[in-house]
Amino acid sequence: MFRTRPLVSLPLGASFRHQLNVALPFRQLAAASVPTTTSRLYATTGASATTISEAIKKDHSELTSYYNEIINSNDHDHQERFGNQFTWELARHSVAEELIVYPAFESHMGKEGHMMAEDDRKAHHRVKELLKEFQNLKPKQEDQYVPKLKELWQELAAHIEDEEANDLPKLEAALQKIEQQREGGMGQGISASESMAKKFGLTKAFVPSRSHPSAGENPYFESAMGMLAAPIDHIADIFRKFPDNTISPNPSTK
Ligand SMILES: [Fe+2]
Ligand SMILES: [Fe+2]
Repeated sequence: MFRTRPLVSLPLGASFRHQLNVALPFRQLAAASVPTTTSRLYATTGASATTISEAIKKDHSELTSYYNEIINSNDHDHQERFGNQFTWELARHSVAEELIVYPAFESHMGKEGHMMAEDDRKAHHRVKELLKEFQNLKPKQEDQYVPKLKELWQELAAHIEDEEANDLPKLEAALQKIEQQREGGMGQGISASESMAKKFGLTKAFVPSRSHPSAGENPYFESAMGMLAAPIDHIADIFRKFPDNTISPNPSTK
């Protein structure tokens, strides 16, 4: 038997840490509370991040490590746990960028920002299509599981590189400009980038944790349709295998 706990809908005003925890898979809740070496794997974006760039790069680096765990292993159980972890992290990261980061490109960087956001949404859609295929595979399907992940990674790695090398430096520069223009001057409280990093972390707690490419990448569409999938994803996550757990997986391939 295992205990469950509310997965969504903490009241506004609850601490940031609590709001993040509600969307963590069951095993990660336990891991997060025990300071073991492996628990570092489960650190969540936003809690300790300073800027939005740091928060996003931290996610990218976690995704890279999960990817490597899968492709460098022949153990199906290990691959399944990290495959679920990879899916969980990538799905939430993608939607949170679409809700928080890409609209900021459009708001603060004019025409160039709109083009950047459009390119990134297209890249996300390609990756989400592949993630939907990958999340429904099992490692025992050896001829498909790792090859599909590698196919996805080729798209994702190029997108990550573009975000880190081009998009994020431009966003930070635009946010800094806003800071400088803000009435009251610099050094007053939290910066625009830090504030965005917090919103990014909070958003990840409430978005779907599986890929739903049919919900689209437009933030408003995502909130109307993709969000309906979030509670279902979060409940099904309880039954999936994640790193460092022994609970049987749910056969659901929703
Ligand atoms: Fe992205
Ligand atoms: Fe990203």
